[in-house]
Amino acid sequence: MQIPRLHPDTVEVIKERADIVDVISEHVVLRKRGKDFIGLCPFHNEKSPSFSVSPSKQMYFCFGCQTGGNVFTFLTSVQKRSFSEVALDLAQRYQVHVKTLEPEQRQELQRQMSLRDQLYEVLASAANFYQHALKQPQGKIALDYLQQKRRFNDEVIQQFGLGFAPGGWETLYRYLVETKGYPVQLLEKAGLIKSRKEGNGYYDVFRDRLMIPIHDAMGRVIAFGGRTLGDDQPKYLNSPETEVFFKGKTLFALDKARNGISREDKAIVVEGYFDAIALHAVGITNVVASLGTALSMEQVRLVLRYSDSKQIILNFDADKAGVNAAERAIGEIADLAYKGEVQLKILNIPDGKDADEYLYTHDSSDYQQLVNSAPLWLDWQIKQIIKDRDLKQATDYQLVSQGVVKLLKNIVNKDTLDYYVSYCAEILTLGDTRLIPLRIENLLTQIGPSATSPKSFPVRVNREQATQYTQEQSTTESQEFKIPKQAGNLLQHAEALLLKIYLHYHRYREMIVNALEERDLQFSLSHHRFLWQQIIENPSPTEKDLISSLQDRYLEFPEEMSLIAHLLHLTEKAQQEMIFYQEKLILAAVAAMERVNCEKLSRYFLELYEKADEKGEVQESQSYYQAFYKYKLRLWELDRQRHFSITDLF
Ligand code: CTP
Ligand code: MN
Repeated sequence: MQIPRLHPDTVEVIKERADIVDVISEHVVLRKRGKDFIGLCPFHNEKSPSFSVSPSKQMYFCFGCQTGGNVFTFLTSVQKRSFSEVALDLAQRYQVHVKTLEPEQRQELQRQMSLRDQLYEVLASAANFYQHALKQPQGKIALDYLQQKRRFNDEVIQQFGLGFAPGGWETLYRYLVETKGYPVQLLEKAGLIKSRKEGNGYYDVFRDRLMIPIHDAMGRVIAFGGRTLGDDQPKYLNSPETEVFFKGKTLFALDKARNGISREDKAIVVEGYFDAIALHAVGITNVVASLGTALSMEQVRLVLRYSDSKQIILNFDADKAGVNAAERAIGEIADLAYKGEVQLKILNIPDGKDADEYLYTHDSSDYQQLVNSAPLWLDWQIKQIIKDRDLKQATDYQLVSQGVVKLLKNIVNKDTLDYYVSYCAEILTLGDTRLIPLRIENLLTQIGPSATSPKSFPVRVNREQATQYTQEQSTTESQEFKIPKQAGNLLQHAEALLLKIYLHYHRYREMIVNALEERDLQFSLSHHRFLWQQIIENPSPTEKDLISSLQDRYLEFPEEMSLIAHLLHLTEKAQQEMIFYQEKLILAAVAAMERVNCEKLSRYFLELYEKADEKGEVQESQSYYQAFYKYKLRLWELDRQRHFSITDLF
């Protein structure tokens, strides 16, 4: 079809309705940063995000390659399509009535556009038919299956619109064509019927199956999955791809999971329809199912739109094939995970069960606990590599070492790489920490030239941000503990967090005081020191007493108090998030505070060592190196304490 020229009014309305963040986030993973969003620029190759999108201006701009524009320029450049094509797509998506300049072309256009609407309509009608059939005598077998085998109540059956496709060859066909008067071609285009090979006539695609409607994010029926009620193959039959159904762009139950995903700030992706339904049924609603295929980029972007911190928990069958299966399931998003664009975690249910089976013998809080303790993807992979291997055996050792090198090679982010290199080095030393520097060197050499720094250890590990990734890691556990890039902020957050726990959780006070005293730690920010001073002078038995007596200080110290006022309140969200983690958070925060001293000392001794070494003072240089190394080891230990998921794993 030749694309007609659009009326300028139409273009204006599209501009008003289309949301640039919405549109761009289908192509770029965006994170909120202040009022704007940032991500990796799709127009040039970059490793750290310089592409920014402003919802208020409805514009984007890349500070790296200096390109910018609005929704139209974005889509024309990214999709390499004409202005009119892009505009038409947007018009359809945002339901803008299209006026064109040539009236005769307008008709053709409307015909095209309404095909999709007609498909939605006939699919909804088919869904009603199946739902109705489930409640008829012929549907009893399916209803029994849902109620008895799957233990779903009527509410769940209703919510998911489950149904039954009767056994005859033409029941749906007759209902939709003869009773409802839909055109045969429309049914065919909707993937509901097929034409018979021998001569004329049509037959129903779904027969004698339990029917699971698949909805788009807006809740429209776009396809069906049909499960056999017996042993015949295939177990699941799915609609073919149509004008409205694209397998790789669809996630089952997304329409019902949207709110849950934003509320929990994470999405759980399971394999099966029934895994998703079973989890929703027990109140875990941030769950979608892939349609039995590897996850595609589009699917991931679909869910990530609802999670600010970009968390995905993948609950795929573990037993079937371990690492390979997970890697296949992860499909295209492995790249995103290596770049650190998504926080991908892997949930393996014990005994190789799927979520649905697990819930037969466990409740939702058990499952939630599995979710909370799911390791990050890289940690999980490392664990898979060393699983069942005996590092004391030469062949096993070699396999593990090759395995981790292969893995480490893919890590894009330098800080992440540094972190995991020293982590793997430590595993490979079998507890002999003196060997760590050597193993680090080995790994770096094997990973390849790009990873090797010009100067070898110890200069390399002394780099300021060598362990920054650990800081980011800790953020996955708690929003409250979200630690930005700069080391200064890390400290600030750690201190604030510690003070918050002290103020709001009476039972941890002793632990905090002891930890600080034991390690001789001071708060580094003056207003934090001020608050601590007030606390020490004010031994109050309860949280309430302490906070109210602190509030009395406003009059005397308005400035200091205004800086710490936010610590006196805990949002409900923060409370929920902290609830399981207080002890770990305390350890992590204290570790972050100690880390600063330790880092200074290690750097100090390193300088002394380098000077002595240059001058050829063997004895001095050796003892400086030892001092340096002592602090360096302590730093590793501290980073370990700050890095929850890894400490949990082993
Ligand atoms: N699937 C599919 N086509 C198939 C088999 C599976 O589309 N022939 C998809 C379905 O979305 C299904 C998911 O893959 O929900 C998982 O399939 P499977 O591992 O076979 O799930 P089970 O847990 O064994 O299925 P059920 O619980 O229904 O027995
Ligand atoms: Mn199952």
